[in-house]
Amino acid sequence: MLNVKEIRKDFPMCVKQDAGNGKVYLDNAATTFKPYSVIEAVTRYYTDESVNIHRGDYDLSYQVSDEYEQTRKTVARFLNCEEREVIFTSGASASLNLFAYGWAQKFLKKGDVILSSEAEHASNILPLMKAAELTGATIEYIPLTEEGELTIEAFKGAMHDKVKLVSIAHISNVLGFVHPIKELTKITHEYGAIISVDGAQSVPHIKTDVKDWDIDFLSFSAHKMLGPTGVGVLFGKYALLDQMDAFMLGGGNNARFDICGNIQLKNPPFKFEAGTPAIEAVLGLKAAILYLEKVGMDEIEAYEHELKTYAVSQLKDLKNVILYNPHAGTGIITFNVEGIFAQDTAIYLNSKGLMVRAGNHCAKILVEVIKTSETVRASVSFYNTKEEVDRLVDALRTITLEQCIDLSIM
Ligand code: ALA
Repeated sequence: MLNVKEIRKDFPMCVKQDAGNGKVYLDNAATTFKPYSVIEAVTRYYTDESVNIHRGDYDLSYQVSDEYEQTRKTVARFLNCEEREVIFTSGASASLNLFAYGWAQKFLKKGDVILSSEAEHASNILPLMKAAELTGATIEYIPLTEEGELTIEAFKGAMHDKVKLVSIAHISNVLGFVHPIKELTKITHEYGAIISVDGAQSVPHIKTDVKDWDIDFLSFSAHKMLGPTGVGVLFGKYALLDQMDAFMLGGGNNARFDICGNIQLKNPPFKFEAGTPAIEAVLGLKAAILYLEKVGMDEIEAYEHELKTYAVSQLKDLKNVILYNPHAGTGIITFNVEGIFAQDTAIYLNSKGLMVRAGNHCAKILVEVIKTSETVRASVSFYNTKEEVDRLVDALRTITLEQCIDLSIM
């Protein structure tokens, strides 16, 4: 059982809210608040270290290089993989682009098929569209249920011998459905294909085990899991990383090069980490993972699910609220208010101190499936409370079109 009251004391943004600033943050799928330990890890780097890694021949540089590599070790433990399979990038989008450039553009060819879903975020599907355009491969989409859920049956029906790559989000950023990744991976491998998983919405909320699931690639960002912006991770099975091309070339990722243009790159993961990275953000990511581990990923998943279920139980009694994903297993609540444009609902909620996201949430193909161009998304984290959910429900109980019109002409 989480002690949310105590947990909130670790987050300066929650402390300000609890001191009475009137705000409620329900946009955790976009990014999360950071605990003091993460902020301290970032500032400690700037105040006490502030030197580059893997280059300097002095104690302080050795020390920071070691701390940087300790984060890699921590990420590897968190994901259950080898350290050399953890590549630091600038975020989930960079990880997905690196994969699409380094693997998909290199190994796909005309006639090959990429199998994806209609619920994908732009950062997953757009780099694959580019890879398809450059290689002559095509993209096919697994049909979703009317609610936008991906089922094993639909996946089996869509799979065939020409599929060389399956690329899907573990958890949809719009609807919060948890896809059965282990089963999907097993089927993918039976066809001799590989699977790349967008873990931006799953790694922060449920326990990850890349070895048990046997997935080939996984992309995610630190900033959605209590860490700093500017850093993300691409996990890849070592043998696949070894064959893959580097997206960037430069300092730090080459072993040697000469005037004739012969370049020998380092082995993974360093092959993919050219240039000075966001050192402070990587150190902050370690603090974020330690915090998540202290709270416990199973506890986080259970609590966020409980909050979501609580929210749904209240919202389904409101006649004006249309819920799109009442039974999705994570803390994403997607809805509209009858007769009110999603953005106007968000502006109204903002006037009540509630922060949510409205729009198509970067998943522009999904709108066709769930038959609405815009939705409002409230997404909880384990530091949110039932009282905050009540604030959302109360605000929606009294919302009117007239109030929204007044706010939008103000
Ligand atoms: N991908 C983030 C979201 O879903 C920004 O809001």
